[in-house]
Amino acid sequence: MQKLSIHGGVPLSGEVRVAGAKNASLPILAAALLTAEPVRVSNVPELNDVGTMIRLLERMGVAARRTPHAVDLDASAVSQPFAPYELVKTMRASILALGPLTARFGEARVSLPGGCAIGERPVDLHIKGLAAMGATIAIEAGYIHATASRLQGARVFMETVTVTGTENLMMAACLARGETVLENAAREPEVVDLARCLIAMGARIKGHGTDVITIEGVERLHGVEHAVMPDRIEAGTFLAAAAATRGDVTLAKAPVASLDAVLEKLREAGARIDVGADFIRLRMGARPKSVSIRTAPYPGFPTDMQAQFIALNAVAEGTAFVTETIFENRFMHVQELRRLGAAIDIEGNTALVHGVEKLTGAAVMATDLRASASLVIAGLVAEGETVIDRIYHLDRGYERIEARLGQLGARIARVS
Ligand code: EPZ
Repeated sequence: MQKLSIHGGVPLSGEVRVAGAKNASLPILAAALLTAEPVRVSNVPELNDVGTMIRLLERMGVAARRTPHAVDLDASAVSQPFAPYELVKTMRASILALGPLTARFGEARVSLPGGCAIGERPVDLHIKGLAAMGATIAIEAGYIHATASRLQGARVFMETVTVTGTENLMMAACLARGETVLENAAREPEVVDLARCLIAMGARIKGHGTDVITIEGVERLHGVEHAVMPDRIEAGTFLAAAAATRGDVTLAKAPVASLDAVLEKLREAGARIDVGADFIRLRMGARPKSVSIRTAPYPGFPTDMQAQFIALNAVAEGTAFVTETIFENRFMHVQELRRLGAAIDIEGNTALVHGVEKLTGAAVMATDLRASASLVIAGLVAEGETVIDRIYHLDRGYERIEARLGQLGARIARVS
């Protein structure tokens, strides 16, 4: 099994281009199910999760052709509106097939996602929303079986803000009869990117980016060419790494407008940040100051950046309170960071991070995608060698991370 070896202590320096967003690519690829015409998606990152979504679509009969950073999809001949357990269990975002399949084909069989390392993560709101739109839903042998002759527009209030739930229902509503209003909708930039793609396919959507999205259903959608937005979490991860190593890093093609909460905290930590139309430069000249954070749905501080900020706080001056409000078990990285010398206490959903002068390299294990990113940041700071096991988690969300950090001067290598 592959591992990542990092010899820490080098301040990151130079320029790196931000890749396309994983969490925008996945729903946009699923949206190809909504039309019989060709769809071309570009700026798609080369990630394991993208590969899983393409395999899932192919299993259904979608013709897919992958070229570097682009995918051509043709869902004119879908034979099986079915998402099997083997694929759904490796990637929960497979649930994004549920809405489009039910809307276009009147039927979907999608495996219920099983357990997850970061929390319970039910999909009840996806199911309730589709039921409100007239789908008949049965849970049979671990599968969600949804049927509908044609979905009907409805008012749907989601009691918890859910990103993929909003995306699933927004996609379904595009082909429903009449108007759907999604209340307490997710405002994440990835929802907005999906809405833009759907609008370019002929969908009638308003209010994306706010918490009330209105969709007027149409008879059919047409083909599209869409370039995916840059990945704000990848960008934030590079910036946190630059700050922790006291570096000077410029991000090219950065999603400038979607990083406010993260940039604000990096400034509070002492970083000097210059922002241009599509670049961000971060310079950190001294030891970072600890920054307390509380995760929240967008535009709040993203849960997907929580682990990376624990790593930053681990070497900062002072004590930080890091409160996780979205997922109930998203502190798995803490035990691993302790192995590198971090001083962190957990009290309920808050981590108290007491900054230490230095971390020391050790063998650690990645438990999920963002946990692995926090271990990379800690490894870049630690004295000596850090070896990170189970880096397939990292490959789900960061494209060629070792090459790109290497370009910034990091001493990092993939080893068997
Ligand atoms: C999306 O997951 C992202 N994944 C996650 O990215 C991200 O952590 C998460 O949103 C929160 O920002 C994709 O976009 C593919 P949610 P999602 O539904 O949609 C509860 C990463 O590292 N909930 O917004 O699955 C749920 O349990 C990841 O890239 C219900 O109760 O998350 C959680 O507490 C991992 N019922 C909260 O809502 C439901 O039906 C928010 O989850 C759905 C969700």
